[in-house]
Amino acid sequence: MSRTFAIIKPDAVERKLTGKIISWMENAGLTVVAMKRLHLTKKQAEGFYAEHSARGFFGDLTSYMSSGPCVVAVLEGENAQPKWRDIMGATNPANAAPGTIRKELAVDLEKNSVHGSDSETSAAREIAYFFSELEVV
Ligand code: CMP
Repeated sequence: MSRTFAIIKPDAVERKLTGKIISWMENAGLTVVAMKRLHLTKKQAEGFYAEHSARGFFGDLTSYMSSGPCVVAVLEGENAQPKWRDIMGATNPANAAPGTIRKELAVDLEKNSVHGSDSETSAAREIAYFFSELEVV
């Protein structure tokens, strides 16, 4: 058993896709062991995406991620980190495989509906950014 971190991004929350995406998680055998709805400030989004701070899209990304409510979650299961990445599909929905969340639901590269940690190390950092150990059950 391992854990990973997920975000249901503002475009998906706004379109009322939260329940559908939770079903996608659970149907893949992942357990939601923590979840909450947040409206990130620009500073909180910048802190979360700090590793991308030198990238040209950083300003737009953090403005978008603080533009409306999102839902953050911790998922647990066998190989949770790579499994959730597989279910999400490629970062750019134009390149995502059929049957993945991003292929089926995402709008574009920025409004790509979901986030998932890219490694076990990132998962530990990202979970700790949003949740205390007491909130993960
Ligand atoms: P995410 O998995 O949340 O990680 C960083 C996000 O930056 C990514 O999803 C995309 O939504 C967004 N992004 C915007 N432009 C780019 C780009 N050119 N390359 C990668 N990610 C991008």
